[in-house]
Amino acid sequence: MLKTFAVIGDPIDHSLSPAIHNAAYRQLNLECTYIGYKIPRAELTSGIESLKAIKISGFNVTIPHKIEIMKFLDEFDDNCKLIGAANTIVNDNGLLKGYNTDMDGFLEPIKKRDISIKGSHVLLIGAGGASRAIIAGLGKEHVKKISIINRTLEKANELGNFARKIGIKTETLTLENALELNGDYNFIVNASSLGLKNESNLIPPKIMNERTVVYDIVYKPVNTELIKDAKSKNSQIIYGYEMLLEQAVRSFEIWLKQKAPYDAMKKVILGKF
Ligand code: ATR
Repeated sequence: MLKTFAVIGDPIDHSLSPAIHNAAYRQLNLECTYIGYKIPRAELTSGIESLKAIKISGFNVTIPHKIEIMKFLDEFDDNCKLIGAANTIVNDNGLLKGYNTDMDGFLEPIKKRDISIKGSHVLLIGAGGASRAIIAGLGKEHVKKISIINRTLEKANELGNFARKIGIKTETLTLENALELNGDYNFIVNASSLGLKNESNLIPPKIMNERTVVYDIVYKPVNTELIKDAKSKNSQIIYGYEMLLEQAVRSFEIWLKQKAPYDAMKKVILGKF
């Protein structure tokens, strides 16, 4: 039976998700298709109605709807509840069920490298939806402390409250003071959109060394300015495309209840750069 899937968001034209999922369907000869569907922030209600009208089998949710979508869901899993956001939706005959694959998608590349996160001190750049899922993941892995640095301090403080609620020691800082950073961080994670437009890195390389793990969730360009600086300091690098791939694999498996063709999906991501 032909199944249709989608990714909704705005902007949506640069999303790699249609290419990744369609490559997976081709690889397994599945009669499925995956489309990008632009829904502006103010049009989520009518957008969801349209998706139900065409009997969409499931859809991914990206900026700016990850939090707002929660209101439209009939059910959601524990990750969504914890994070307060969903990125993967199943349409079960008009009943919408939400999942969040960002958190485990973020953690997987760390686990694959056998890097231990427990007890570590993390510098987290950004305080948007992605940061929230990452903090939930870091909490699940029992990090010791998170320093959240963001352009807008209020948003960092809000997220700091969330982090404290789930038992993590937290401090918040503004990006204006980035040059003064001098802590000893085990992980430096960029969860902001800084770097996407080739912006220069604001995090001083002096706080990076060969023991630091630098994880940039921006996947385009592959080598952001942050990653370039981290490489110059021989830090361990985790690339944004790794999280993109892991969350896509999890969405595929939720929808189709079979193992995703990991290599075919990875190949299409790498081929797009
Ligand atoms: P997402 O859901 O992907 O996290 P978001 O909620 O829009 O997206 O969050 C984007 C993050 O990138 C925010 O932390 C934002 O900082 P503000 O809270 O100050 O808005 C950060 N960001 C975006 N553009 C930025 C820029 N030019 N300089 C610094 N930070 C930026």
